[in-house]
Amino acid sequence: MSPTTTTTQRTIFTRILLTLATTAPTIGHLPTNTASERTTAWMDGGLAGCYDPFMATILGIETSCDETAAAVVVDGVRVLSNVVASQIDLHAKYGGVVPEIASRAHIERMDGVIAEALERADCASDDIDAIAVTCKPGLVGSLLIGVTAAKTLAWAWGKPLVGVDHVRAHVVSPAIGLDESPWPCVGLVVSGGHTSLYRVSDLDTIELLGQTTDDAAGEAFDKVATILDLPYPGGPHIDRLAKVGDASRVRFPRTMLGKESLDFSFSGIKTAVLYHVHGSGKTSGGLEKLSEQEVADVAASFQAAVVDVLVKKTMRALDATGLESVAVSGGVAANSGLRAGMDAACAERGVRFFAAELAYCGDNGAMIAALGDHEFARGRVADLALDASPR
Ligand code: KG4
Ligand code: ZN
Repeated sequence: MSPTTTTTQRTIFTRILLTLATTAPTIGHLPTNTASERTTAWMDGGLAGCYDPFMATILGIETSCDETAAAVVVDGVRVLSNVVASQIDLHAKYGGVVPEIASRAHIERMDGVIAEALERADCASDDIDAIAVTCKPGLVGSLLIGVTAAKTLAWAWGKPLVGVDHVRAHVVSPAIGLDESPWPCVGLVVSGGHTSLYRVSDLDTIELLGQTTDDAAGEAFDKVATILDLPYPGGPHIDRLAKVGDASRVRFPRTMLGKESLDFSFSGIKTAVLYHVHGSGKTSGGLEKLSEQEVADVAASFQAAVVDVLVKKTMRALDATGLESVAVSGGVAANSGLRAGMDAACAERGVRFFAAELAYCGDNGAMIAALGDHEFARGRVADLALDASPR
């Protein structure tokens, strides 16, 4: 919870969760054995047709920023439910996420979101093998709500608790729903807080190859949308306008940071858009003079420049590593231009391309449960001292 959240609020929140903890078992149940029955049956020599106890059912909880999310996932890839309560309406008028508002909204929505995730999955508490929760990185006040919820349920239900790294979970998200493994691959995570390239050998060996030196790609989308007076968050609005705009109209800079670099910089292009709209050295007065078509052309030209850099750097990472697969994830991975551009570049090189499904691009509980499944299977469980960390 945020540093200003009082002890009384924490107590009320825990009480609400305990109510959920004691009522959830009546919500429903999987049409087969419960988690503990499955384990007992397996230990007794196995029951024909019963679940493999290592094909775990994980409840994933995510509250690192402004989405309150929970999901139930089986075996790390089969999503039974994925509930996301967005707070966009609460933050839009401020043009960005207000941490204190985010924490309070998580408190109000957390128990309802978890109950809905269980209900849609037709699961009772006894069907859940472990509870996975984002514990870093993110807004610490927001993270604490999810971590407190997960700890409360783990204690009340007597279930193992797994702490999950949010960015690693984004890396894992393209594998959700797949029969084949995307690894080893070059992983590109593009979100509001991160723009990073990884060498993903397997889920335990994820090596950072390069990252943004200033703004994240999503941040650049949001800031350019503000310049164009589009609603927050701007990424989807730029994406929509780019479809009707002419991307060849303006040639915005592609910052490559040298021939070998796998790092990114998006602050230059943001300033270039600002001066293109308002006039050199000016920060206001120009937007009113642009027609709707000209605004769409700026959006399309900006998106083309960002996509160009993201695709070229990813191809560079393939050259540097010798890998033959690419997996793209994070909120900006929902961008239609990026998906098409990366797909085309990968096809031209003859490498495999995996993009997270749209439902798993933005922050969600399914990716937390997916990585939680991997950690749980390796016995990496946390105790009730699990804490939230901003980094
Ligand atoms: O992964 P995410 O939900 O949250 C973070 O972990 O940051 O990413 C949010 C970011 C926002 O900056 C949003 O504008 C951007 O993803 N985004 C998009 C699109 N949809 C969301 N950016 C470009 N095109 C989109 N279609
Ligand atoms: Zn994220």
